[in-house]
Amino acid sequence: LIKSVRGRWVLDSRGNPTVQVKVVTEGLGVGVGYAPSGASTGTHEALELRDGGKEFHGKGVKRAVENVNKMIAPVIIGMDSRKQYEIDMKMVEIDGTKNKARIGGNAIVATSIAVAKAAAHTMEVPLYQYIGGKQANVLPVPMLNIINGGVHAGNKLDFQEFMIVPAGFTSFSDALRASVEVYHELKNILKNKFGPLAINVGDEGGFAPPLERTRDALDLLIEAIKAAGYSPGDQIALALDVASSRLFKQGKGVYVVEGVELTSDKLLEYYAGLVSDYPIVSIEDPFHEEDFETFARFTSEFGSKILIVGDDLFVTNPERLSRGIATRAANAILVKVNQVGTLSETFTVVDMAKTAGYRTIISHRSGETEDTTISDIAVGVRAGLIKTGAPARGERTAKYNRLLEIEEEVEKPEYPGFTVFPRKP
Ligand code: PGA
Ligand code: ZN
Repeated sequence: LIKSVRGRWVLDSRGNPTVQVKVVTEGLGVGVGYAPSGASTGTHEALELRDGGKEFHGKGVKRAVENVNKMIAPVIIGMDSRKQYEIDMKMVEIDGTKNKARIGGNAIVATSIAVAKAAAHTMEVPLYQYIGGKQANVLPVPMLNIINGGVHAGNKLDFQEFMIVPAGFTSFSDALRASVEVYHELKNILKNKFGPLAINVGDEGGFAPPLERTRDALDLLIEAIKAAGYSPGDQIALALDVASSRLFKQGKGVYVVEGVELTSDKLLEYYAGLVSDYPIVSIEDPFHEEDFETFARFTSEFGSKILIVGDDLFVTNPERLSRGIATRAANAILVKVNQVGTLSETFTVVDMAKTAGYRTIISHRSGETEDTTISDIAVGVRAGLIKTGAPARGERTAKYNRLLEIEEEVEKPEYPGFTVFPRKP
């Protein structure tokens, strides 16, 4: 039974305050959970409660912490920590809003994670096994964002994330090693081409070179893969997160890409060109967060070739996902626990997605902490894919390091490689 629940503020990777919750059980289980924080958040996400006012330039989380200690704690103390669903639904109930605005998505998500970890600890099983039982043996294919753009970097790249996907390997650790080698080759290339300022990194640990064009970034990734001695497409593929809601001009109904206004039709053509010229296996948020229609058209034309991933489109929300499934808007979903707010709702979304034949990508946020829960979730739900940034910056490497540990721990680790994609590019 839960004995104590304690919230406090701590710092995230951008130096902003965030919520940490520690849950202790009578069986001496301890679980610590953290709320991550996005920069390119979707409109329909759970609300992140911030104080406003002067402290932390308005970003304080005093109220959210107080809500953990005064509203959540008294209700869940005495409950069985293994009753994740009941506890999560209790929090949803006392919040009472559709987007967790009263207690705060940040207060709720940190508590939800802490409860699961405390339960796993009490039962003396690793978190991934607590979540997925003995079948939790699939290591995810990582999608490593090694060139950062959009709102995550101070350069002029419109697209937010340029990822390498080491799918052509037989184990997670080999795939990670190769990716790290590519990362360092890219660093050399950027330094030689643009000087030492070009190897400064963005929010997710990827480089933020002074590039302006998508194709230039993709060319550099190909060059780095080759320089590291790997074969682009065959061993290491590419992926994009366009985060296109940021490029969409509401009034005009067009996207501005590299200074040019594109209708959604033209943007679709632009992607078609990229997919035919580069070994791309996945494009996330190709269209803005309300455009289920063009998403669906893109999926019907390209869904047999690449993953079309809804992040801001679905915001890990069961209702938005079912609308997506009904309209065939995508074939994959990005899963972020804090977008919906509780672990239980996250698992519901993952189940729905799998039943509909969607791929699931467990994802970090651009603002992260040292918490490694998403690694355990990825293995626990057999997601097959994870997105957790470049292999640099402690809050990103913590997740990769946890996966290395899990790979050693499980009896028969599997690495799905290209089977998680519609085809090899
Ligand atoms: P965010 O970005 O965490 O800043 O929202 C991540 C993403 O768009 O995938
Ligand atoms: Zn995204």
